[in-house]
Amino acid sequence: MLDKGSSGLPRHIAIVMDGNGRWAQLRGLPRMAGHRQGAENMRSIIEECLELGISFLTLYAFSTENWKRPAEEVEYLMSLPGRFYERERHLLHQYQVRVIAIGNLDEIPADTKEVIERMQAETAAYRRLTLLLAFNYGGRAEIAMAAERLAVKWQAGELETITEEDVANSLYTAGFPDPDLLIRCGNEMRLSNFLLWQSAYAELYFSEKLWPDFKGPDLRRAVAVYLQRERRFGGLTLNSASQQEEEV
Ligand code: IPE
Ligand code: IPE
Ligand code: MG
Repeated sequence: MLDKGSSGLPRHIAIVMDGNGRWAQLRGLPRMAGHRQGAENMRSIIEECLELGISFLTLYAFSTENWKRPAEEVEYLMSLPGRFYERERHLLHQYQVRVIAIGNLDEIPADTKEVIERMQAETAAYRRLTLLLAFNYGGRAEIAMAAERLAVKWQAGELETITEEDVANSLYTAGFPDPDLLIRCGNEMRLSNFLLWQSAYAELYFSEKLWPDFKGPDLRRAVAVYLQRERRFGGLTLNSASQQEEEV
């Protein structure tokens, strides 16, 4: 199915892991069971990305708006990075996956922050796949943070103008490529505050599958659809294959 050669593949795939609650409800289980299954599914998608040779994978795990949920659910979601690292640690090392969190870690419980920082430190040298874990992440909060950082520099006389590059370099994702393919599972057609700046030219793909059911073949299907898209970036160039080759 993916016979177009590796040059056209997305370099960065970003996924809104949505539908855990409904997955559990359909089975008469508590929402937490859906979150547990969802966290376990991260491995299938990481493995598929490694198989495909994707360099960057961003997974949206907790949004700045998810604090609105019942305390018990929030507490469980806060325990997931620790559970994930305990379960997948050896694989991250074996597969050489670097984990980097994007989001405000100063607002999350100290033990969750500690495990995320440990996961980052222990995988910092790996480059086969970079997993950006969006945790307590919100696109608007990120842009506001960037504006504040730039205002400080401006006030210090370090900036004369503010360019798109200045903004990009002030985001959590500074230094990483923009997502080429943004997938949302769970049959919802919205971004829910995910990578608002970075997704300006991402190809969007919506899946009806609930996140715990979204497996390797589903990711392959999304990538196959992506390969059929023609990315123009506002221009008229129709030879998308050579255009993408230049980008990677
Ligand atoms: C996604 O699943 C996980 C988080 C938002 C943390 P949901 O919990 O939103 O599942 P649904 O959308 O209610 O089914
Ligand atoms: C988006 O899902 C956030 C994550 C998957 C982490 P939500 O379930 O929070 O989004 P809405 O509320 O349906 O927009
Ligand atoms: Mg949801």
